[in-house]
Amino acid sequence: MAKMWAGRTSGVTDSLADDFNSSIHFDCRMYRQDIMGSMAHAAMLGKQGIITKEESEALIAGLSDILADLESGSLEFDMTCEDIHMFVEQVLTNRLGDVGKKLHTARSRNDQVALDLRMYLRDEVDEILAFLRELITTVCDRAEEHKATIMPGYTHLQRAQPITFGHHLMAYAMMLLRDVDRFCDCKKRINVSPIGSCALAGTTYNTDRAFEAEKLGFSAVAQNSIDGVSDRDFCLDFMAAVSTLMMHLSRLSEEIILWSSWEFKFIELSDAYTTGSSIMPQKKNSDMAELIRGKTGRVYGDLLALLTTLKGLPLAYNKDMQEDKESVFDAADTVKMAIPVMNGMLATMKVLGDNMKAAAQKGFINATDMADYLVKKGMPFRSAYKISGELVAECIDRGCVLETLPLEAYTAKSELFDADIYETIDLEVCVNKRISEGGTCVSSVEKQIEFVRNSL
Ligand code: ARG
Repeated sequence: MAKMWAGRTSGVTDSLADDFNSSIHFDCRMYRQDIMGSMAHAAMLGKQGIITKEESEALIAGLSDILADLESGSLEFDMTCEDIHMFVEQVLTNRLGDVGKKLHTARSRNDQVALDLRMYLRDEVDEILAFLRELITTVCDRAEEHKATIMPGYTHLQRAQPITFGHHLMAYAMMLLRDVDRFCDCKKRINVSPIGSCALAGTTYNTDRAFEAEKLGFSAVAQNSIDGVSDRDFCLDFMAAVSTLMMHLSRLSEEIILWSSWEFKFIELSDAYTTGSSIMPQKKNSDMAELIRGKTGRVYGDLLALLTTLKGLPLAYNKDMQEDKESVFDAADTVKMAIPVMNGMLATMKVLGDNMKAAAQKGFINATDMADYLVKKGMPFRSAYKISGELVAECIDRGCVLETLPLEAYTAKSELFDADIYETIDLEVCVNKRISEGGTCVSSVEKQIEFVRNSL
């Protein structure tokens, strides 16, 4: 069958070329946005007298029927159409006759597709934000529960200083809060209307772009029609925000995987979020966390793919830009699965506080506090650091920990040591002395939780 754009050419294309060219199998998910956009366009054409009031009303009614029929399932996508825009217009024309052919006045698929994608992404951002807020709430709840649960804090994956599990979790809450910010910011740039840019140069018709933009809930109109049809920055912004968020989820996933290993045993994931092995009966694998980590790489790929597609494109629209949607959809679909999975995993995991505490007791993670003890009694920090290191070495030799090293061993190194050293290096004391803003003591973690909850 000849294409709707048959005219200069016969419109008869090779079937392999058709398959290669067509985007309906992925852009059909924008049917709602496409139809809403067309309804606003028909209303504008009528209001401006570009078509008659009756024609405008007929188009709007026809479009609204198509939407209802698609949603009820009584109308199916025709996968032989080139894209969703052609499909809707074809159905409309089949149903209404000649008046259907008037819809595309003062418009091009170039501004139409940009409009649809912006509307689609706008909704995706809202959904992602809702998921994110739920996740942050869970993180805060679990942090509150464990604001006094002592665990080793790590640098270089070596036990470093005692912290609380609540403090550690709240670090993720801060990252996720920045993600919220990034999505809100990206939404501002998504929410600019390109419609009315037409093919690239604007139009000779007396259109009202502001009217259409407002009808569709946009906060601004693209100020240059060439940019209006060529700009895909909003897709990049979106995928960059998704990539950073996925990176955060991936780091947390990595920790969840470590923590659930027998080597750590800091947490136990609920059976609902683990899988067994097909051969090793003892296994409980954290597949969900591994998949979040794995899918992060794929989302980075989505971002890189579009960056690469765009880098060599002359202005304005080029068909290469049709490649934007699969990347964007994939990134959106992936993150919309990953956040709730992470949420469920965190909400249901069992925290093994005793194991965390036992690990904290084994790593000499109170050595900094011991050095600070000497400093507070007048010793220069570097000397205190050296003595503390030597005492750790002595513990390793004797097979004990700082808490059980006899006082004589301390006083042999420095007369500044007294029996109160044992209180100083008590892990709970170490944690609760870290009262600096953002630090690990219970009251500081409480403040962090309050800050995050208020920011939501
Ligand atoms: N399917 C196309 C896309 O996704 C729609 C725009 C096509 N415009 C054109 N002049 N061929 O980009």
